[in-house]
Amino acid sequence: MKIVTMESCHVPQVAALEKLCFSDPWSENSVASELSNDLSCWLVALDGDTVAGYVGSQTVLGETDMMNLAVSPEYRRKGIAKALVNALVEQLKQRESHCLTLEVRLSNEPARTLYESLGFVQIGRRPGYYHNPKEDGLILRKEWEI
Ligand SMILES: CC(C)(COP(=O)(O)OP(=O)(O)OC[C@H]1O[C@@H](n2cnc3c(N)ncnc32)[C@H](O)[C@@H]1OP(=O)(O)O)[C@@H](O)C(=O)NCCC(=O)NCCS
Repeated sequence: MKIVTMESCHVPQVAALEKLCFSDPWSENSVASELSNDLSCWLVALDGDTVAGYVGSQTVLGETDMMNLAVSPEYRRKGIAKALVNALVEQLKQRESHCLTLEVRLSNEPARTLYESLGFVQIGRRPGYYHNPKEDGLILRKEWEI
């Protein structure tokens, strides 16, 4: 398994995982447009040519939002999401970003446990933030020195 910057050849598999993992997935075009966005940093975990997971982020004025994180069902509980987020943080340090913020569904226990183990702390809550089904979002953040 290796973690590399997302390239155009990975986009169809990333978009397929979006569809599989989320009720409001990003389209393939939206994912592809991130390749030419200087604010964006997307990483993929590769098993050969297979995209096992990915993380997507955007940085503005030293603050980064994590917009997407998913691991293919058959690759879960192998530490891939943890490795992706840790690799992202290392990339962000080089971009002089000092924090990573994300939203997570209240009921998403796997993701909440993951983020807690990575040192994220809750800084807020957005009532009714998510749709399909409607649910509150928790805002989590991790900060570091640069
Ligand atoms: C959440 C998700 C990305 C985790 O990916 P993963 O590669 O399986 O996670 P990891 O193997 O790196 O897990 C690291 C730790 O997170 C926690 N964790 C992960 N999945 C868990 C689960 N199903 N139940 C409880 N804890 C879980 C555990 O503490 C785990 O460590 P352990 O396996 O040593 O116990 C994956 O389940 C997924 O893609 N879910 C659907 C999309 C999603 O919800 N994305 C997040 C949106 S905010």
